[in-house]
Amino acid sequence: MTWDETGEAVTDRLVAASADGEDRAVEAALRPKDLGEFIGQERVREQLDLVLRAARARGGTADHVLLSGAPGLGKTTLSMIIAAEMGAPIRITSGPAIQHAGDLAAILSSLTEGEVLFLDEIHRMSRPAEEMLYMAMEDFRVDVIVGKGPGATAIPLELPPFTLVGATTRAGLLPPPLRDRFGFTGHMEFYAPAELERVIHRSAGLLDVDIEPDGAAEIAGRSRGTPRIANRLLRRVRDYAQVKADGLITKEIAARALDVYEVDLRGLDRLDRAVLDALLRLFGGGPVGLSTLAVAVGEERETVEEVAEPFLVREGLLARTPRGRVATLAAWAHLGLVPPRHNDAGGSQQGLFGP
Ligand SMILES: Nc1ncnc2c1ncn2[C@@H]1O[C@H](COP(=O)(O)OP(=O)(O)OP(=O)(O)O)[C@@H](O)[C@H]1O
Ligand SMILES: [Mg+2]
Repeated sequence: MTWDETGEAVTDRLVAASADGEDRAVEAALRPKDLGEFIGQERVREQLDLVLRAARARGGTADHVLLSGAPGLGKTTLSMIIAAEMGAPIRITSGPAIQHAGDLAAILSSLTEGEVLFLDEIHRMSRPAEEMLYMAMEDFRVDVIVGKGPGATAIPLELPPFTLVGATTRAGLLPPPLRDRFGFTGHMEFYAPAELERVIHRSAGLLDVDIEPDGAAEIAGRSRGTPRIANRLLRRVRDYAQVKADGLITKEIAARALDVYEVDLRGLDRLDRAVLDALLRLFGGGPVGLSTLAVAVGEERETVEEVAEPFLVREGLLARTPRGRVATLAAWAHLGLVPPRHNDAGGSQQGLFGP
């Protein structure tokens, strides 16, 4: 298995939260342009609104902002909104792109006053670059090292005030000194179905797709709380509606389309369901070891652990225990199966060969 630059497993799944090539091509057109257009994330939006308003009123530069949250929840979108709201240009780079402190120095020294520097996947920056960033964030100054060896000298360089917007899918991996230098941290949450419905209606409008409210609700429910997935499912359902119907997305069309694409009512795809199915039917709900489970579904250990399990755990369908993987009662209900009588979801061996 391979991993992308955000550390998420690369798959061709319709319900993957990371961006594929098509997503990247259409996302620019679908991105909300200002805070008013940005749907959901009430808390982050309100707090950010205050930060930006206050900065504008002072006629100054906004504090550095850290955005953390799972892939596809709107971190990049929000960083562009911050620049737009401040009427400032934005420079976009990422942690993995900055290998040497010199790379960062080059970017920092070319910033203009008030510019927004968006540093995606900031937790993947190299250590020396990180240390340079501390000073730049705090004192708007960097030391540029000229020459090598004993003759090397540090030339201090003043920077214009700028706003750093850092994004990370792994806030826990950020060293505390870096985290502390942000004036504001926004934690992005998964979206409620009603919010995703609004995202879908908005995108449908931009893509010139006809959709009924029930149709949007059907897609929203299967989108795993993630706008990127909602937008992707919308495009696939649109294809189906065009080919199999008159183009209008109704509840019925959306449901039929997503059944064809094997995305179920809760947003589980074939792999997710295969894991649950094996856990329930072959191992009576567990506990069963990860390796055994992986063999049973004919996948690699890593695929089950990194690709399928996180969402199953988040949905409360599967639990990881010291004795192995265990299905919850919700898992039995979701697959329409009856749990064995004495299943205590904690490790009874009963029902190992049933139901
Ligand atoms: N609040 C929102 N309202 C409307 N659309 C949204 C919202 N958040 C995200 N989107 C849509 O979802 C897509 C993905 O968002 P974005 O690229 O900002 O996610 P991200 O958090 O940066 O993901 P990654 O971690 O993969 O970089 C965007 O194209 C945008 O259209
Ligand atoms: Mg992004």
